[in-house]
Amino acid sequence: MNMILLWTVVCAMFVGHASAGTESIKNSVLTLGVDTSHGGAISYLVDNNDPTINLINCHDQGREVQQSYYAGPDPYRGAQWSGGPWPWNPISSGDAFGHSSTVLSLNNTGTSLYLKARPLQWALNNVPCNCTFETYITLDANGAFVRNRLINFREDETDYGARDQELPAVYTIGQLSELWTYAGDAPWTGDSLTQVSYPVPGPPWQGFTAAENWAAFTDGIPQHYGVGVYHDNISSFLGGFHRTQGKGGSTDDNTGYIAPVGVRDITHNDEFVWCYHLAIGYLATIRGYFSSRRGMPCTFPVV
Ligand SMILES: *[C@@H]1O[C@H](CO)[C@@H](O)[C@H](O)[C@H]1NC(C)=O
Ligand SMILES: *[C@@H]1O[C@H](CO)[C@@H](O)[C@H](O)[C@H]1NC(C)=O
Ligand SMILES: *[C@@H]1O[C@H](CO)[C@@H](O)[C@H](O)[C@H]1NC(C)=O
Repeated sequence: MNMILLWTVVCAMFVGHASAGTESIKNSVLTLGVDTSHGGAISYLVDNNDPTINLINCHDQGREVQQSYYAGPDPYRGAQWSGGPWPWNPISSGDAFGHSSTVLSLNNTGTSLYLKARPLQWALNNVPCNCTFETYITLDANGAFVRNRLINFREDETDYGARDQELPAVYTIGQLSELWTYAGDAPWTGDSLTQVSYPVPGPPWQGFTAAENWAAFTDGIPQHYGVGVYHDNISSFLGGFHRTQGKGGSTDDNTGYIAPVGVRDITHNDEFVWCYHLAIGYLATIRGYFSSRRGMPCTFPVV
């Protein structure tokens, strides 16, 4: 519990300026930061026009925008979380007991950011995963292109089968409580967008179809300002909201959640490369951004 309070303090320090532990890259529109004291999870995303508002929710180590993978066995080494058994589940920031994942290397060129970390098992007490997480982030206009690589080196060679994976999980601030996507049958034609309704409070989250492979959380003003996530080829999404809609910032418990959901069998020696885009701005701008960045090659750069 103390560590969760500490984490709240760390995250609060991001507001308005980059603190020790934050590595950020910036272009003319936005600034994006990762928290190197918590495994390099993406913890900071601001519009340079209003740097007092961090659009990412960092209430605890399970939030932010980060890598998290699921595989068997279930439970893994007796793990319990949320009132039940929990499987093999390394995540970028750290574990539910307040320990932080370790950053192994970092290269911040000012416009691109590379990071390699040794993650912890979410539901175990300070147990590093026999795997590494790498991330390579570049900025482009009002968005970011994020490439991830998992390299697994588990001793247990059992194939536990495919599971749903959050690719990625995006937690946004409570001020943004309208969930938007395109759910019709004429994608990329400029057809009317769809507002997704969801039960409050989540979890559990609402499943929905994102026919243009993206969704965004926005505020309620007419042009709908917010944050969107796009994943090439994935149209199966989860979304929802935890606690009080329409208010709250980066450190509050209120949060929106969006995840493009892919299915993958994370085997003992898997090497999994996958990519997504984030974008900020008005809803029409976010949609236009994703439209023009469809099908970008998803390879991990040589580092
Ligand atoms: C950092 O990244 C840049 C651009 O990709 C590369 O040229 C440089 O060699 C890297 N530096 C280190 C220390 O890895
Ligand atoms: C991780 O790898 C090390 C070295 O091979 C091994 O000693 C350890 O038991 C492994 N742990 C797990 C959880 O696979
Ligand atoms: C999306 O599908 C295209 C066409 O099948 C494929 O070339 C591309 O690699 C896929 N992208 C991702 C991120 O899976």
